Amino acid sequence: MYEAKAIATDDKAALYAELVQQAEGLMHGESNPVANAANFAALVYDVVPDLNWAGFYLFDGTELVVGPFQGKPACIRIAIGRGVCGTAAATRETQVVRDVNAFAGHIACDAASNAEIVVPLVKADGSLYGVWDVDSPSVGRFDDEDRKGMEALCAVFMKTLV
Ligand code: SME
Repeated sequence: MYEAKAIATDDKAALYAELVQQAEGLMHGESNPVANAANFAALVYDVVPDLNWAGFYLFDGTELVVGPFQGKPACIRIAIGRGVCGTAAATRETQVVRDVNAFAGHIACDAASNAEIVVPLVKADGSLYGVWDVDSPSVGRFDDEDRKGMEALCAVFMKTLV
């Protein structure tokens, strides 16, 4: 049974190091991508403070389609190059957005979102798997520590894909 473990959330490096271990434990021995993506989203949403959405957009060969997530129902399809998610997919670079209202082309799914971080998910063969998207109601919520931490977490998820 999963039980939330108390983690000091004021130390981001420690928070993400602990989360990486918890994610590894949660997905250990399981290769079903839907099961792993669902638990991954639930873990991050449960443990990381001050979030209002955390989930996957998966590449269907043409565009991004919403996958397992926690939070309010979201936009279903996002074209590559559009919004923060489509930009991360097109550039293959993590997007750390301090204030989504200042990001040209931001796609508003939940009016509560004010900051966002999106990590591109690229498979070992170089093809696009999708993106990992996390929203917060607090402007400036995500910084370079979150970028490093979320990228490390996503690497744990990507290792489960066979
Ligand atoms: N804001 C995103 C859309 C997805 S939601 O945040 C869940 C974007 O601009 O791509």
